[in-house]
Amino acid sequence: MSLVRVQHISVSLDGFATGEGRSLDAPFGHAGERLHDWMFATRWGRGMLGRPGGTGGVDDAFLRLFTSGIGAEIMGAGKFGYPGWHKDPEWKGPWGPNPPFHTPVFVLTHHPRPSIEMEGGTTFHFIDASPAEALETAREAAGGQDVRIGGGPTMIRGFLAAGLVDHMHIVVVPILLGRGVRLWDGLEGLEKDYEIETTSSPSGVTHLMFTRTGL
Ligand SMILES: NC(=O)c1ccc[n+]([C@@H]2O[C@H](COP(=O)([O-])OP(=O)(O)OC[C@H]3O[C@@H](n4cnc5c(N)ncnc54)[C@H](OP(=O)(O)O)[C@@H]3O)[C@@H](O)[C@H]2O)c1
Repeated sequence: MSLVRVQHISVSLDGFATGEGRSLDAPFGHAGERLHDWMFATRWGRGMLGRPGGTGGVDDAFLRLFTSGIGAEIMGAGKFGYPGWHKDPEWKGPWGPNPPFHTPVFVLTHHPRPSIEMEGGTTFHFIDASPAEALETAREAAGGQDVRIGGGPTMIRGFLAAGLVDHMHIVVVPILLGRGVRLWDGLEGLEKDYEIETTSSPSGVTHLMFTRTGL
């Protein structure tokens, strides 16, 4: 059976995965780039931006798992676009013509629209479905490979609450955001269902790997 994986979701020390006051120009609101500075310091992260250089240590090694074995992604409407994107018929996400997914991507939304085929193998499909229904659809599209639960925090919470996540990589960033959207609300005791490994990086972030008990 293919696995359901959450990959390198960055959260602040106080548990926020995005900030407040998001807009077209500020996809993470008042958090700015602070949740992802660690990522864009790596070779992998800089490569995503078409830039040379970057660190090649533990953060880079974790990031390189991103595409490995993944056949489809499910993401929330809040990751696909800024608040109000569904009123813009031309909106194709913030990643440009060749998004970094290279697989089918299922966008959970109450405002479905026709699928959009992008360069490089990414096709966005828009579905109004429960987490379990969306997973069934994504699994079919993934052709036996794993399904990435791409975020943001609201949709990840839904998949965790439904007990659907097998592996989860969370990156705790040593900043305090104070406001935004929290990842952990309503998930009291979640750790009981997982074995958890922790790796501290010299960059200052902490990688938490959750593996469902008994997998
Ligand atoms: N820290 C990280 O590593 C990381 C990673 C990814 C994203 N992010 C950030 O997280 C933010 C987005 O997160 P978010 O929590 O606000 O939103 P989200 O989880 O991306 O999406 C939530 C929205 O998706 C739609 N939705 C969710 N479940 C659905 C269902 N079962 N059926 C139909 N529609 C459903 C609803 O939108 P509608 O009702 O409007 O359709 C809902 O408000 C962005 O700032 C993004 O940049 C951070």
